[in-house]
Amino acid sequence: ALISLRQLLDHAAEYEYGMPAFNVNNMEQVLSIMNAAKKTDSPVILQASRGARSYAGDIMIKHMIQAVAEMYPDIPVCMHQDHGNSLGTCLSAISANFTSVMMDGSLETDAKTPATYEYNCTVTGKVAECAHLVGVSVEGELGCLGSLETGAGEKEDGHGFEGTLDHSQLLTDPDQAADFVARTQVDALAVAIGTSHGAYKFTRKPTGDILAMNVVKAIHARLPGTHLVMHGSSSVPQELQDIINQYGGEMPQTFGVPVEEIVEGIKHGVRKVNIDTDCRMAITGAIRKVFAENKAEFDPRKYLKPSMDAMEKVCRERYEQFGAVGMA
Ligand code: G3H
Ligand code: 13P
Ligand code: ZN
Repeated sequence: ALISLRQLLDHAAEYEYGMPAFNVNNMEQVLSIMNAAKKTDSPVILQASRGARSYAGDIMIKHMIQAVAEMYPDIPVCMHQDHGNSLGTCLSAISANFTSVMMDGSLETDAKTPATYEYNCTVTGKVAECAHLVGVSVEGELGCLGSLETGAGEKEDGHGFEGTLDHSQLLTDPDQAADFVARTQVDALAVAIGTSHGAYKFTRKPTGDILAMNVVKAIHARLPGTHLVMHGSSSVPQELQDIINQYGGEMPQTFGVPVEEIVEGIKHGVRKVNIDTDCRMAITGAIRKVFAENKAEFDPRKYLKPSMDAMEKVCRERYEQFGAVGMA
């Protein structure tokens, strides 16, 4: 059954687990997640970016959501708009059956200046006012993922911090977070703690100087009742890098967010953990393997099925690691 993000995360908070939120663009990714959830008896958050919506088309997305609800009537499913950038994007997501929307007002944030903060509060508050009228949940974001040092137009672009985390203005400020949640009435808050989107987050296994889990703890202490969201939370497992590179890929060595850090976050209010890159890597590695080992193969099912199995495995592992097993 379809449920809102709020219902799902309230349950996660009560039973102290974390929900992985996996990005989807197509049927294969949707089925991989649903199969993992079915086998582990876990609830589901599917999320689609603006790019996913234009890739598949809103009508296709809308009916994939409906299909999931029919195919898996016993699994609670939340369909979430990832990184909505306007009221219009959020409202059109709601008309396409989404039960939750992210209004990412931080996309316009250049620094912690009053003007951009005011914009974020205003637009996120307006989305929450509209969405709540129809029972849809809202995630807001405060702070900025990735490095501002790369310059205008390159924010949230997949570039992590190169050096140490002295860019304190990028991280979410706990006092401002309290003001933001009170003013916007968001159901969940995405925080900036040094992660970035994509595979290239860190050049070494992150420690506290580049991955600020202490900021999660400070925000949770200030806002114990608010569901926190970690973006850019793929772990970029070494074995997936190795499979891709073993079968003809060229991914330079990189490091993601260690699962044990996410598990620590879950002890301090993190309830939604966004994962896209790990799934992309699992799919790509599996497809590369089939292509490398069987060059005569041309039936898409012969490489898409292994890719679904590989993605399902990643999803199952995250459900287990985040304590969501049996919570459906
Ligand atoms: O926000 C980042 C997610 O990984 C979605 O990526 O915008 O390429 O679909 P995308
Ligand atoms: P990753 O690129 O780390 O998977 O992050 C995904 C994300 O935050 C989607 O909003
Ligand atoms: Zn994100």
